[in-house]
Amino acid sequence: MPLLELKDVTRQYKTGQVKVDALKGVSLSVEEGDFVSIMGPSGSGKSTLLNIIGCLDRPSTGTYILAGQHVEKLSDSRLADIRNQFLGFVFQSFHLLPDLDAQANVELPLIYRGMGSKERRKRSAKALESVGLGERLRHKPSQLSGGEQQRVAIARALVGEPKIILADEPTGALDSRSGHTIMSIFQRLNREEGLTIVQVTHEENIARHGYRVIHLLDGELEREEVLEEPIDALGKNVNVS
Ligand SMILES: Nc1ncnc2c1ncn2[C@@H]1O[C@H](COP(=O)(O)OP(=O)(O)OP(=O)(O)O)[C@@H](O)[C@H]1O
Ligand SMILES: [Mg+2]
Repeated sequence: MPLLELKDVTRQYKTGQVKVDALKGVSLSVEEGDFVSIMGPSGSGKSTLLNIIGCLDRPSTGTYILAGQHVEKLSDSRLADIRNQFLGFVFQSFHLLPDLDAQANVELPLIYRGMGSKERRKRSAKALESVGLGERLRHKPSQLSGGEQQRVAIARALVGEPKIILADEPTGALDSRSGHTIMSIFQRLNREEGLTIVQVTHEENIARHGYRVIHLLDGELEREEVLEEPIDALGKNVNVS
C-alpha cells in the first residue's frame, strides 16, 4: 500500500466571481522512502498540491488516502492530528519566530504536544545537532545565515519524528551552496533515516536530488521522470532499485 495516494484530485478556488481550477484531476502515489520533486511553471498548482498532500487543505473532488486514512472525510481536528503525527513542513521563507532562539523555535511543535521541558530540551538539541547546528542553540534567526535558518526550520520539522517531510521551495531563498547543504541533509534523512520527502522546486538542479521528478502544467500532471542517477549531494553511490 502506498504511503499516500491521490486519485483524480481537483481543487477549485472561488474568489468573488472568479473561479480558478488550480488542480484538474491529479493522481499520484508516493511510497514510503520515496524522494519526490514537483516542478512546473509559476501558477501550475505546485503549492496547491503540496498543501493538499500536507493536509493543510482539502481536495474539491477526488480522494486522498494518507497512511490508510481517507483525508477528505476527516474533521479539522483529526487533520491537525495527522499533520502532527506524520508530517514535517519546510517553507521557502523559513517561518521562524524572530524573538525565539534556535532551540526555542525547534521546541515549539513539542510544546503543542504537551511535552515536558526537560524532554523538549533534549530532543530539540538533538534535532539541531543532526542538521549541524549544535553550536548555534542560543542564536536568534537574525543572528543566523539564510542557510542556517533553513536548517533550524528542518530541525523543527524533524523534532516531532515525522514520516514525511514536505518542502515548498526549500532552497528558493538560498544561494546555491546553502541549497546544496539542504539537499545533502534531505538525502541523508531519506537514505539513512528512511524519511519520505516531497519537495516543490523551480530548480532542475535541486529537483534532481530526488528519485522522481513530477512535472505539473496548468493543474495537470504532465509527465514524470524516474531518475536512475540522482545528483548526489552526499558524494556516495546511490542505488535506486
Ligand atoms: N488561496 C487561493 N485563492 C484563490 N486562488 C488561488 C489561491 N491559491 C492559489 N490560487 C491560484 O491557483 C493557481 C495555482 O496556484 P499555486 O500557488 O498552487 O501555484 P504554484 O505552482 O505553487 O506557483 P508558484 O511557483 O508561483 O509558487 C494560481 O492560478 C493561483 O492564482
Ligand atoms: Mg508555490
